[in-house]
Amino acid sequence: MGPQAELAVIGGSGLYALLEDATEHRVETPYGPPSDPVTVAQVAGRAVAFLPRHGRDHRFPPHLIPYRANLWALRSLGVRQILAPCAVGGLRPELGPGTFVIPDQLIDRTSGRAQTYYDRGAVHVSFADPYCPRGRDTVLAATAAHGIEAHDGGTMVVVEGPRFSTRAESRWFSAIGGAIINMTGHPEAVLARELALCYTAVALVTDLDAGVEGGHAVTQEEVFRVFGENTARLREVLLDAVGRLSADRDCPCPHSLDGIKLPIELP
Ligand code: ADE
Repeated sequence: MGPQAELAVIGGSGLYALLEDATEHRVETPYGPPSDPVTVAQVAGRAVAFLPRHGRDHRFPPHLIPYRANLWALRSLGVRQILAPCAVGGLRPELGPGTFVIPDQLIDRTSGRAQTYYDRGAVHVSFADPYCPRGRDTVLAATAAHGIEAHDGGTMVVVEGPRFSTRAESRWFSAIGGAIINMTGHPEAVLARELALCYTAVALVTDLDAGVEGGHAVTQEEVFRVFGENTARLREVLLDAVGRLSADRDCPCPHSLDGIKLPIELP
């Protein structure tokens, strides 16, 4: 039997390692290898996996991340709960750099990404609420315990990238209700749902997007620098949240595939 982990953190830009004294595992999947070998370590008495979504050397841009392989690899290790930190732009003036946002909604503006495991048969998962409600509560409790005022809820707009948005696009994303914007939140969240996993996005604002009052043309340098300035806080919150996450999974996520005849066998 291979390595086993119960929950996982999928690291974003600037978070390429998380665990100490971890073992490293190369995992193969029907969708090819994941972005990087998965590391596994004990945190607060639970076996935790870590996977940097861009690869540790950031070789995968957002539109080329092997999302299906990543989620499949984690599930095959036994993972059922995922915390997904990510860098985001703020689409509202009050959500400035350094703000933590725990989104509760998502708008997909990507195109052409493989976003399902089910290319045969009738498998239509509910995605009305894309994030695990228990996971969100847990991360909010962890931020509060660290004296961090996280924004509870908000809609994450996910764009195809890799370019940043024009001012007009950005103004439109705010007008249709977006609170934050990034390039990796989809299809990661829906693939987790298709594998009946709990998935919680933990967004860290690195910039105000171009169309927002007070926002300027976003640069990659800014995104990486601000994320880097906040990784220590983010790491604390994530490790604390891991210890607080209930293993019971008293949420709708484990039931996402109930009553559906699956055309493939899940790991
Ligand atoms: N990631 C971080 N900041 C972003 C922005 N402004 N737009 C898209 N993705 C981002």
